[in-house]
Amino acid sequence: MVKMLSWDALIEQCKNCTKCGLHKGRTNVVIGRGNKSAPLMFIGEGPGEQEDKQGLPFVGAAGKLLDLLLEAHEISEDMYYICNIVKCRPPNNRVPLEEEATQCLDYLRNQVRLVSPKIIVCLGATAMKYVIDRKGKITEMRGQWVERKGFWLMPTFHPAALLRDESKKELAWKDFKKIKQKLSEISNNF
Ligand code: URA
Repeated sequence: MVKMLSWDALIEQCKNCTKCGLHKGRTNVVIGRGNKSAPLMFIGEGPGEQEDKQGLPFVGAAGKLLDLLLEAHEISEDMYYICNIVKCRPPNNRVPLEEEATQCLDYLRNQVRLVSPKIIVCLGATAMKYVIDRKGKITEMRGQWVERKGFWLMPTFHPAALLRDESKKELAWKDFKKIKQKLSEISNNF
């Protein structure tokens, strides 16, 4: 297992990372935002244009839709931490290559260990692939909880997919209800 780093050391390593070709096109490394000891962690795919510019995840159009879903379900920013599979923007927002994702996964593992969430929600097929199931289909697995290594894991649609296909919004709404429900169950257990 790779040595676990403190937040400061991890951020420093990510900022100086040249492990894959994505570093060549980045303006900023996008590490994460939110509460670093939150019970809930969201994992997306990789930074888009706005995220690369601002150095923060989910601040563009998909992020605005995610904010609406979170607000509607009364999930405030102190309840979650949000990050991505890859920390540098893929060119033209393409899906990260396998080697880019796998090079970046140790940073994500480190983040999970530092935040130590109870619930991890994978936003979209890429996050689901690397965190939950390499071969799973998002349309089949979304909305279903998997309990593994002390975490409650659930994939749901990526908010960008909801922007492209409005008919997915109803299912995403149901998934967010489940997330809120799980958060309530977990906080009642303390
Ligand atoms: N899409 C993602 O997967 N992550 C972001 O940070 C923004 C858009």
